[in-house]
Amino acid sequence: MLDLNDLPFYNPSQGEKIAIITGGHSGIGYYTTLHLYMHGFTVYICGRNSHKVHKSIKSIIDEATDRTNKLPNSMRRERLSYFGSIHYIHLDLTDLKSVERATVKIQRSVTHIDVLINNAGIMAVPYQLTKDGFETQLQTNYISHFLFTMRLLPLVKKKNGRIISLSSLGHLLEFHYWKLSKQWNIWPDIVFTWFRYAVSKTSLIQFTKMLSIKNPDVLCVSLHPGLVMNTNLFSYWTRLPLIGIFFWVLFQVIGFFFGVSNEQGSIASLKCALDENLSTEEDNGKYFTTGGAESKSSYIANNLDDAASTWIWTVHQLNDRGYSI
Ligand SMILES: NC(=O)c1ccc[n+]([C@@H]2O[C@H](COP(=O)([O-])OP(=O)(O)OC[C@H]3O[C@@H](n4cnc5c(N)ncnc54)[C@H](OP(=O)(O)O)[C@@H]3O)[C@@H](O)[C@H]2O)c1
Repeated sequence: MLDLNDLPFYNPSQGEKIAIITGGHSGIGYYTTLHLYMHGFTVYICGRNSHKVHKSIKSIIDEATDRTNKLPNSMRRERLSYFGSIHYIHLDLTDLKSVERATVKIQRSVTHIDVLINNAGIMAVPYQLTKDGFETQLQTNYISHFLFTMRLLPLVKKKNGRIISLSSLGHLLEFHYWKLSKQWNIWPDIVFTWFRYAVSKTSLIQFTKMLSIKNPDVLCVSLHPGLVMNTNLFSYWTRLPLIGIFFWVLFQVIGFFFGVSNEQGSIASLKCALDENLSTEEDNGKYFTTGGAESKSSYIANNLDDAASTWIWTVHQLNDRGYSI
């Protein structure tokens, strides 16, 4: 797996590098933020719970300091001088108004964006509609990130930044192109919730492909971070009364054989964010997997006609709710 020390370090005193990450305070996002911070970035964590995010910011800074203090003297001073900073922006992806407000706050706070990471997500939760009238997984994982990204795109374009979206291997469950208006509110929900997850994550890949075509100056990639079983993504299932213990054991077994750690799960995002060998000419629209290896998304996710349909549907839906794209 890629050694994160091989990725470039930036000295903040020689120019500010700015990263925006949704859900950068927990699970995979925690380590993505940690390493961006250690590599010299000013990181804005966008999350819905101020207390949780501030607690994580403190923990990330402490962890970065601890790790650096263990380095040999000669290296330590240099590495400490690379430390960036971390800030909090309120964002609730189930509420488009909150998404709009977060982007306005970011527009007022930064001059440009080097890296935008659409990391936050939920998986296989019960059927529910948001106050904007979208299925929760579709809005959290895809639609809100669409609006978030489109609003911040001018800032990303200022310095030919990068846009990275965390999709999932689970997108493969969409084996046929399903219109996004299809809600999959079908019994048994415990099965069809996975279809809804697959649609949201396929849409994110399609969005990335369309973005890369429309904006060839911005590196837009999507990825599957790996099977990372110790994050909160699985907590709905493991906290179910009685059968939760079964799912906990199941996920631990999967993790034991096929999983990677939370930190290893952040490597694909970090490679896409920092690797100078990636270029818009060669890599735009690509899909990566565990550890940053290049991979291939599903036939459905790769079909540009379907991607265009997804894009058009989303723009119409947002326009209907007063969010012009
Ligand atoms: N773990 C895996 O095996 C795996 C596999 C494939 C893809 N992924 C993807 O990787 C990404 C990170 O997942 P993870 O495993 O690190 O899980 P995680 O620890 O649960 O992280 C998900 C993050 O999303 C945030 N979030 C959820 N709903 C939100 C909302 N309405 N508004 C704002 N933020 C919200 C959570 O914030 P709160 O703390 O406030 O809940 C949390 O920070 C997700 O997109 C996931 O789909 C993970």
